[in-house]
Amino acid sequence: MAEILVLHGPNLNLLGTREPHLYGSTTLSQLNESLKVLSAELGHTLSAFQSNNESTLIDKIHDCRQDRTDFIILNPAAFTHTSIALRDAMLAINKPFVEVHLSNIYRRESFRHHSYFSDIAVGVISGLGTEGYASALRFAHHFLSHASNSAVHCETTHC
Ligand code: DQA
Repeated sequence: MAEILVLHGPNLNLLGTREPHLYGSTTLSQLNESLKVLSAELGHTLSAFQSNNESTLIDKIHDCRQDRTDFIILNPAAFTHTSIALRDAMLAINKPFVEVHLSNIYRRESFRHHSYFSDIAVGVISGLGTEGYASALRFAHHFLSHASNSAVHCETTHC
């Protein structure tokens, strides 16, 4: 049984109504609920947190040093493309994470093509809508149940 944190960045509280042609019609609470159900089926505990505020997200990431978080599913939203501070926070806690985007950021404006997280994530899922989060969760289950995961993690985090 592992503790998994889903961290949602700015404007994702508006999921369901925000640019539905890009982000779909599922609300954030519906998404979080479905992930909790899947997580329970896989035998894990999942909590979800969203903030529009960079410093609040950084504090939440820092909390993972003390709490029992084993794996993070992170959609930094617009901070993907701007935030060295959030990247540094993820490096500081050294927890394995998958970066998720609902839309395919590589099919969109060029300023969305760079991520401050992709090179330090275990993996990246972009463009699969809410299914991307479910896939990341299934991957977390696989990752956490294999002893070799620490080697993969060290490789990806250059430790
Ligand atoms: C996003 C993509 C980002 O470029 C954008 O700023 C978001 C959402 C996605 O999930 O597709 O807010 O992270």
